Amino acid sequence: MKILILNGPNLNLLGKREPSIYGNETFNDFFEALKKKYADVELHYFQSNIEGELIDKLHEVGFTFEGIIFNAGAYTHTSVAIGDAIKGIETQVIEVHISNVYAREKFRHVSYIAPNAKGVIAGFGLQSYELALQSFL
Ligand code: DQA
Repeated sequence: MKILILNGPNLNLLGKREPSIYGNETFNDFFEALKKKYADVELHYFQSNIEGELIDKLHEVGFTFEGIIFNAGAYTHTSVAIGDAIKGIETQVIEVHISNVYAREKFRHVSYIAPNAKGVIAGFGLQSYELALQSFL
């Protein structure tokens, strides 16, 4: 089973960025542990701060992979183009967030991804990604 974890802008700074909200662990450390725990899953990872690169990746894997776990960061709340890309592919997407976006500012309550996603998991720290993976499995 091929699953992509796709991270959007600023998520390369996990571990350093606003640790009171996003925690102290780097995504690389978390991803290495996840790969070990789910050794029979073909887990791929891609991060970009650039909207078009995220869209290119969705197009690239969106007809062959079994699932995409997508934290689009702030693009979640702004990107019609990413919403359209998810509509245009066949692979199901689960939207994830580290923080509980519904307990934060109002602009974070809007998602261009959710209407086109299988579901949304938010507020469980990095465990949000693992919960999404378990849902695909
Ligand atoms: C986030 C929530 C977004 O609102 C924010 O812009 C992020 C991270 C999260 O994982 O909690 O960059 O997607």
